[in-house]
This record gives sequence, C-alpha cells and structure tokens, in this order.
Amino acid sequence: MDFFKEAPSFSNMQKALHWAVVVLLAAQYFLFDGMGRPFHQLMDTGTATYTLTPAMHLGIGVLTLALAAWRIALRLTHGTPPEPAEEPDLAKLGSKIAHAAIYALLFILPLTGLVAWFGQAGFAAEIHELLTNALMALVVLHVAAALVHHFWWKTDVLLRMR
Ligand code: HEM
Ligand code: HEM
Repeated sequence: MDFFKEAPSFSNMQKALHWAVVVLLAAQYFLFDGMGRPFHQLMDTGTATYTLTPAMHLGIGVLTLALAAWRIALRLTHGTPPEPAEEPDLAKLGSKIAHAAIYALLFILPLTGLVAWFGQAGFAAEIHELLTNALMALVVLHVAAALVHHFWWKTDVLLRMR
C-alpha cells in the first residue's frame, strides 16, 4: 500500500470527488454549522431531534466520510501526480504533509461528530469543534499554496485538478 503512489495525472473521478467534497464542506461550514443548539438540547433532554440542520449535518458528514474513503482507495490504486520537479524540496514535503493531514481530518471529523451525537459525549464534541478550525486553517493554506504554485512558480498544479 503506497499512499504516495505516482500517476501521470488525476483521474476524472479523483477530480470530481475533490470538487464534490469542496461543495459538501462549504455547505457544512456555512449552511449547517448551527449544531450547537440541537446538540445541547440532546445533551439536556436525551432525545435527538432531526430538524433541517442536524439532519443535513449528519448526512453531509457521513457522505464526506464515504467520499474520503473512496478517494483514499483511488490514491492507493490509481495514484496521484508527483509535485513538479522544479519546486523547492520543502514545498514538496509541505504539500505531502498537508494533504495527509487533510485526509486524516476528513476521517476524524465525522467520526468525532458521530461519537458526540450518538454517544452524547461532550468531550468528543469539543474535539470535533477544535478540529473543524484546524481543517479550515489547512484549507486556507491549501488554497493559498495552489495560488502560489500557479502565479509564483507558474507550474501546472492548479490546472491538473481541473
Ligand atoms: C466532514 C464532516 C464534518 C464537518 C466538516 C463538521 C463541521 C462542523 C462545524 C463547522 C461545526 C460547528 C462548530 C462551531 O460551532 O464552532 C460542527 C458542530 C457539530 N457537529 Fe459536525 N461536522 C462534520 C461531521 C459531523 C457528523 C457526522 C456529526 C454527527 C452527527 C457531527 C456532529 C456535530 C455536533 C454534535 C456538533 C456540535 C458540537 C458542539 O456544539 O459542542 N458533525 N461540525
Ligand atoms: C474544502 C476544501 C478543500 C479540500 C478539503 C481539499 C483537499 C485536497 C486534497 C486532500 C488534495 C490531495 C490530492 C488528492 O489526493 O485528492 C487536494 C489537491 C488539490 N487541490 Fe484541493 N482541497 C480543497 C479546496 C481546494 C480549492 C478551493 C482549490 C483551488 C484553489 C484546490 C486546489 C487543489 C489542487 C490544484 C490540487 C492538486 C495538487 C497536486 O496536484 O498535487 N483545492 N485537495
């Protein structure tokens, strides 16, 4: 099993999954992030209510988890294109670490969310909330890096996820 197996390019399915997860995460962070109230209600009463926000948050979270697993499977079978040779070694290493960290969070976030919700576990909710900020920070860094690749180093990195 090689998480960094090399391929000439991303497959169309890898590209589609990348952008589908971007859309799902945008909805999770900007439309259905109001989980505090239903969660505290659940903690107080012991009864879960599935109004729009918790139902969508749960559904999108589980779907994101499934798509992350699919993406890992594609990385292991198809592979991903290597970093452009002309880039600094530190940038190559940084992108490997950042991508691995993003993948880790795409698993840990839904899992801590599920433990918090179904186990009525306050500590899991706290970890979940903390890690949502970590993922947001990594994504900001990721987008900034993609723009540096494109406009500063003038490599094809941004275009190959098109
Ligand atoms: C990729 C998956 C997920 C992402 C990106 C995500 C993101 C978020 C965000 C942004 C918040 C609001 C945090 C805040 O108010 O600062 C939140 C809260 C919460 N999420 Fe998720 N979530 C995901 C999956 C799930 C799943 C599958 C569940 C299971 C039901 C879940 C349960 C919760 C709960 C219970 C809270 C409230 C925590 C609290 O207020 O203490 N999440 N999530
Ligand atoms: C929620 C937001 C995002 C997440 C979670 C995310 C996650 C990832 C991950 C894990 C990879 C590694 C490749 C893989 O195995 O699939 C990747 C690659 C890539 N992402 Fe994103 N991404 C996000 C948003 C964006 C945005 C907005 C852009 C455009 C500015 C972008 C541009 C790219 C590019 C160009 C690559 C390919 C890098 C390479 O060729 O090595 N991503 N992304």
